[in-house]
Amino acid sequence: MRFDDLPRKRPEELRSHQWYGTDGLRSFSHRARTRQLGYLPEEHLGKPVIAILNTWSDINPCHVHLRDRAQAVKRGVWQAGGFPLEFPVSTLSETFQKPTPMLYRNLLAMETEELLRSYPVDGAVLMGGCDKTTPALLMGAASVDLPTVFVPAGPMLPGHWRNEVLGSGTDMWKYWDDKRAGLIGDCEMAELENGLARSPGHCMTMGTASTLTAAAEALGVTVPGASSIPAVDSGHDRMAARAGLTIVEQVHKGRVLSEILTAEAFEDAVTTVLGLGGSTNAVIHLIAMAGRAGVRLTLDDFDRIARTVPVLANVRPGGRTYLMEDFHFAGGLPGFLSRIPDLLHLDRPTVSCDTLREQLAGAQVHQDDVIRPRDNPVASEGGVAVLRGNLCPDGAVIKHIAAEPHLLKHTGPAVVFDDYRTMQRTVNDPELGITADSVLVLRGSGPKGGPGMPEYGMLPIPDHLLRQGVRDMVRISDARMSGTSYGACVLHVAPESYVGGPLALVRTGDSITLDVEARTLHLHVDDEELQRRRAAWTPPPTRYERGYGALYNEQITQADTGCDFAFLARPGKVADPYAG
Ligand code: FES
Ligand code: MG
Repeated sequence: MRFDDLPRKRPEELRSHQWYGTDGLRSFSHRARTRQLGYLPEEHLGKPVIAILNTWSDINPCHVHLRDRAQAVKRGVWQAGGFPLEFPVSTLSETFQKPTPMLYRNLLAMETEELLRSYPVDGAVLMGGCDKTTPALLMGAASVDLPTVFVPAGPMLPGHWRNEVLGSGTDMWKYWDDKRAGLIGDCEMAELENGLARSPGHCMTMGTASTLTAAAEALGVTVPGASSIPAVDSGHDRMAARAGLTIVEQVHKGRVLSEILTAEAFEDAVTTVLGLGGSTNAVIHLIAMAGRAGVRLTLDDFDRIARTVPVLANVRPGGRTYLMEDFHFAGGLPGFLSRIPDLLHLDRPTVSCDTLREQLAGAQVHQDDVIRPRDNPVASEGGVAVLRGNLCPDGAVIKHIAAEPHLLKHTGPAVVFDDYRTMQRTVNDPELGITADSVLVLRGSGPKGGPGMPEYGMLPIPDHLLRQGVRDMVRISDARMSGTSYGACVLHVAPESYVGGPLALVRTGDSITLDVEARTLHLHVDDEELQRRRAAWTPPPTRYERGYGALYNEQITQADTGCDFAFLARPGKVADPYAG
């Protein structure tokens, strides 16, 4: 591509012109301060100003390479005649931030939105990948609606231990269970500590990070093939430079984010997530992202689309075998999408091409066991089912392809835990009489109750059952589950118990039926008894009387509507920073 041939916006057509190019004291001051930054007038005046929002931090191992990678983005921006400015933004490190980075997704979305709005920015490059960073950055950017390109952080290299290939997360749970079952000891665990995550980059399973960056690529906001490039591959540098070139082109074309984030794009992102056997967290995040783009996306859309999409990605934990590096060399997302063109909207634009069809031209699969052909799928239906019933009037989800099949239709007695700490303390107590047929119920773990809907949903199997070889049980909660987790875990029960959803009324010993094929979750307690229990229920005390937590508690919406803040999700006028 020859960037010299691009149509160019005249300087006065750029948003940043208001800051730099007009007559008057303010522009003079901004130019003087840019000299203070060390830039010549010809380095920036009249050029598109590109904000690079970088979630790099010393605490975030998934993004630790992004400080360097921003330099590659800048190279691309300069090459195309733009002026890059890097903005450090809040990092959301899935591993370290407590109680859960989900509590802060909307805070990063707010920061993104307000930074882009209040500074002289013509276009944005968003750098993220660890779970919540992708939706947070895109939600904020969608609310500002400038030309935008997303640079996914890329998966880390496959883990290794002795002769095993390890998936971060997925194998952490597995070997922790093995340790609890007495199958391995401290020496093995020390070795595993070195091998589970062995390079910068986000989790290299088809966990939440890989699912969401793939969704971003399917939406059309990354350069083609970006999402699966391993974080430490030189190709990741080249992708970042390409993103820099692309954003300048987008600014000159005037192609804003809302032209990319259409209803068709979100349908294709849902199709992608389901066909990859991706994380259940994507349900919440895509609904929230769509909301910011003015697109109505519901749980029912997921269930409808799931019935039409086979799971083709044989990547752990939904698939059983491969990791993201294998997926990348098998053809990556372009290869995957080339297997399902009939299920996509091919005439919509992306940041790189006028149509998705053009973007996918020539895409191929190079390894049929990693990205399966349609006649040999990992599962014949999409990986996530939406459940309804008297226990979840506003819905719940289950990643049924990651569960033992015999549990997908199951009736058993509930064993109820009021909160996570109680569950941790008591789940191994033989007095509870938990058997493999029991249905473990955890409440107090939803958007408000968690708070932040922590990834508690894969409740631990009690030790005595592990020793008997039990590896899966039906578990129900208003929590989320890590994208690297697995099991017959019913998640995102809405409304949550903290606000008085029916989950608050379940008692130990009540019978519950899960029927995935019928898409139902039923509590066998009659309505009159439930009314009596409701009358006796008292709301839990407020946890936050001030600060961000108080704002969160006041504004957070339920899982079925994406857990955005009500005041951010609603449409409405926002004053232009220069118009007042
Ligand atoms: Fe960052 Fe898994 S911990 S993606
Ligand atoms: Mg995760």
